[in-house]
Amino acid sequence: MACERLKGRKAIVTGAGSGIGAAVAARLRAEGAQVLTCDLKGEVDHLADVAAQGASADLVARAVVAMGGLDTLVPCAGISAFTPLEGHEDAYFERVFAVNVFAVFRLVRDAVPLLKAAGNGRIVTIGSTTSSFGDEGLAAYAASKHAVLGLTKAIAAELGPFGVTATCVQPGAIDTPMTAPAFTEMPEYKTFWENKASLRRLGEPQDIADVVAFLCSDDARFVTGHGLWVDGGAMARH
Ligand SMILES: NC(=O)c1ccc[n+]([C@@H]2O[C@H](COP(=O)([O-])OP(=O)(O)OC[C@H]3O[C@@H](n4cnc5c(N)ncnc54)[C@H](O)[C@@H]3O)[C@@H](O)[C@H]2O)c1
Repeated sequence: MACERLKGRKAIVTGAGSGIGAAVAARLRAEGAQVLTCDLKGEVDHLADVAAQGASADLVARAVVAMGGLDTLVPCAGISAFTPLEGHEDAYFERVFAVNVFAVFRLVRDAVPLLKAAGNGRIVTIGSTTSSFGDEGLAAYAASKHAVLGLTKAIAAELGPFGVTATCVQPGAIDTPMTAPAFTEMPEYKTFWENKASLRRLGEPQDIADVVAFLCSDDARFVTGHGLWVDGGAMARH
């Protein structure tokens, strides 16, 4: 029998054309939610650059037309690349922040009236284990993911009185098109993360999607305002 834990939920999932976002959208739908998907590319309902001016307001308006409301946000769109500090051009740093942070902020801000009206809104942001530590070549990315965690905590504090929860899922190393080039070019990096995880493997997009579905559900009604490592135990080890 199909699980209907999310029946009645109306969700936006960005970055749904690939990897974690695609798995999240599929899982939310499998649990009964209506989902409006967005990405720059891929099989999604709405093709758009989430960092473009007006993109989030447009997406929220489309959600109301398509689903009759909006109570759940899962902004998964994100970008990352390994670049040494001296190769971090201003434009690169700004683009990472525009997609990974600013677009998340704007989507939430533009959805606030609908989330408040829903009374049980859910926001699940996608941080990273690099929301909690730094790593070589990832200055812009780690800074942006620290910002996502801080943003999520502030949102949780401000919207909590309206019944809205906000949590930040912090994936470890997940096997997706984002990480594939680095794992191919630096096999030792892949081995490092496989061995660092207590479970001794990389994560799959489904490992993240299943946790996101829980956080979107009423089962997680008293969970808000913090980051959750979903990393196979990597952060818990030296
Ligand atoms: N894969 C990992 O190991 C890992 C670890 C921690 C966090 N994350 C985070 O998970 C999220 C999903 O990453 P993934 O691994 O599935 O990567 P992915 O590259 O497979 O998917 C990211 C998706 O975001 C889309 N996207 C990028 N910029 C966009 C924009 N401006 N507008 C609209 N869509 C845009 C891409 O087109 C792509 O489909 C990201 O926020 C990433 O930072 C991934």
